[in-house]
Amino acid sequence: MNHPETLPQGVTPRIFSGIQPSGGLTLGNYLGALKRFVQKQDEGIETVYCLVDMHAITVWQDPAKLRHATREAAAGFIAAGIDPARSILFNQSQVSAHVELAWIFNCVARLGWMSRMTQFKDKAGANSENVSLGLYAYPALMAADILAYRATHVPVGEDQKQHIELTRDIAAKFNNDYGVNFFPLTEPVIEGAATRVMSLRDGTKKMSKSDPSDQSRINLTDDADTIAKKIRKAKTDAEPLPGSLDGLRDRPDARNLVNIYAALADMTPDAVITQYAGAQFGTFKPALADLAVAKLSPITTQMTRLMQDPAEIDRILGEGAARADAIARPIVDQVYDIVGMIRARR
Ligand code: TYM
Repeated sequence: MNHPETLPQGVTPRIFSGIQPSGGLTLGNYLGALKRFVQKQDEGIETVYCLVDMHAITVWQDPAKLRHATREAAAGFIAAGIDPARSILFNQSQVSAHVELAWIFNCVARLGWMSRMTQFKDKAGANSENVSLGLYAYPALMAADILAYRATHVPVGEDQKQHIELTRDIAAKFNNDYGVNFFPLTEPVIEGAATRVMSLRDGTKKMSKSDPSDQSRINLTDDADTIAKKIRKAKTDAEPLPGSLDGLRDRPDARNLVNIYAALADMTPDAVITQYAGAQFGTFKPALADLAVAKLSPITTQMTRLMQDPAEIDRILGEGAARADAIARPIVDQVYDIVGMIRARR
């Protein structure tokens, strides 16, 4: 964690993180992010969590589905243990500070930096002339999400590391260009056994909501039977589990299942391998399926219950947005001053 004495004046430890409400939440989102968001909240540090709907529309979203997915993601956060009284929970588009700061960061970030972003390259593929300008500028908006709160720490999965490094570059260049020590250099917090949950069909590919095969992922909306079936059918090899993690080095599918088990059970992968040394997948998979159902089913049930009252979800998001705005507005106003904008109508 950052030492407070290295932080700019007025900056206190604060966690910010976000999840795109495009499609449903996956086990990867849960283990890599959401479960850890709850841990941070419970550690007592100030926590700000955002459903980044403005990021979602960098690829076209059906409006009705986006609204539904945003509410469902909010329900998922609450069902997983985010308490809207202790954490700030809101959707991005309700707090205009994010896009205002993003514009300023568009003018700070360099084209070369953006071109190096692997997530953009992956998403754009061979089609890079045809994707939206927003998709390219996406990491500058992400930096704005974080720095509109002068957040010091951002819990994320491994795939977001490069974006947090870019956020630090943008903060440093802004501070340097304007001769200020205003933005902190935010630290990524990438911890635990499941910082990169892999596809159940291919242990070399990330589990993702955009994978065409639903069998490749567990969704937080899957019922117990579906979860158990997907785990039973997960790709593995014919060997039993080895006696140490070293023996999993060239077995990405098996390694993935061990990591998932560890993260769900709050164990280390080492402890899992010790417990199941020599076990066949015929034994390990049912144990993993039982564990996954025991941990995920209560969340799914609670999500379904919360989704019966969308007005209440909207109310929670509105209240979170007002609290988020109260932090971000003065910060972005200070940025306007630093940059030299006249602000006469306050
Ligand atoms: P997104 O919506 O793709 O994912 C949300 C979070 O879930 C993590 N994650 C995973 N972790 C482990 N294994 C996986 N298979 C897996 N899949 C997803 C991601 O690392 C992430 O932490 N750009 C971000 C959203 C964002 C954001 C931000 C995050 C926008 N602004 C500011 C942090 C701070 C994204 O697309 O995440």
